[in-house]
Amino acid sequence: MTALQPRPRVMSGMRPTGRLHIGHYFGVLTQWIEYCNSADAFFEIADLHAYTTGFSDPQAIRDARNEMVLDWLAAGVDPSRSTFYLQSAVPEISELQVLLSMITPVSWLERVPTYKGQIEALGGEIATYGFLGYPLLQLCDIAIFRGQEVPVGRDQVAHLEFAREVVRRFNYLYGEGQEVLVEPTAMVLEAAAEVPGTDGRKMSKSYNNTILLADDEETTTKKIRAMITDPQKIRRNDPGRPEVCSVFALWKLVKPQHVPLVERDCRSGALGCVQDKGDLAEALNAYLRPIRERRAAYAADPSQIEAIIAQGTARAREVAIETMADVRVAMRLV
Ligand code: TRP
Repeated sequence: MTALQPRPRVMSGMRPTGRLHIGHYFGVLTQWIEYCNSADAFFEIADLHAYTTGFSDPQAIRDARNEMVLDWLAAGVDPSRSTFYLQSAVPEISELQVLLSMITPVSWLERVPTYKGQIEALGGEIATYGFLGYPLLQLCDIAIFRGQEVPVGRDQVAHLEFAREVVRRFNYLYGEGQEVLVEPTAMVLEAAAEVPGTDGRKMSKSYNNTILLADDEETTTKKIRAMITDPQKIRRNDPGRPEVCSVFALWKLVKPQHVPLVERDCRSGALGCVQDKGDLAEALNAYLRPIRERRAAYAADPSQIEAIIAQGTARAREVAIETMADVRVAMRLV
């Protein structure tokens, strides 16, 4: 028998840019919740990352911080079994970024697909040095805790590939055969890699097609009633194609045991879209009810949120300081 394995180091984070939606929940937060039990997990409020695109409105980033943590807590991420922390309050992360920037070719950053894509989508104002360095800062978030597994959505996989390359280069240049920094692995929940929004595109704040954890039941129902289904199903009794329908995709996440029934009755034409959407709205609201109740309870006590962040940040710094000490030795800074 092997001895007890130490729990894997897990690291993940989100930018405080607004309230979280069910895409965050099914795609990432459900993984975070599980890691609270099985891993030593660090969950980051990536406020510095939020400045890469939101630098002109710092108050919005400040306001979004506690709202986001409220959503984590409401979802069931447990701060007593994981570490919640504020990126900007762990200065070792920024220090590591300066050091790793010395060995990071600009061409590696330029070829990360989100770089050109985001500049095209958001305009040239965000074409800053900091934005170019976004994946490097993200690597430092992970590397400072020697994160091994990184639960993220599919859009982050390219960032993790970049991260592995830089870590490899660091260990090659300075490690003398040791893994001073650890190569992280992206953990993508394939079943929920892309939760569809109400318009059929990927659920995303920038598409304005989200259902928020913090929405009330009436708003949720309205949003689901407006969803796009199979465009070829015109009359109520036309047979539908579940594989092209976003309502069906949400059923798989919200109530998997109901999926075979919906599939059968949609294909046969017995189930109309109006009925189906009403049923889904009811199921989703029931699913989210305990989450929304927890959110309201936590929201009533902001000082508790502050305390959770402060405690986690103190623990995060202890680990970060240890890693930085090893990095300084490896780079002959001491
Ligand atoms: N870039 C991630 C996103 O947009 C957020 C993030 C910042 C992150 N630092 C991280 C994710 C470290 C995983 C690990 O979703």
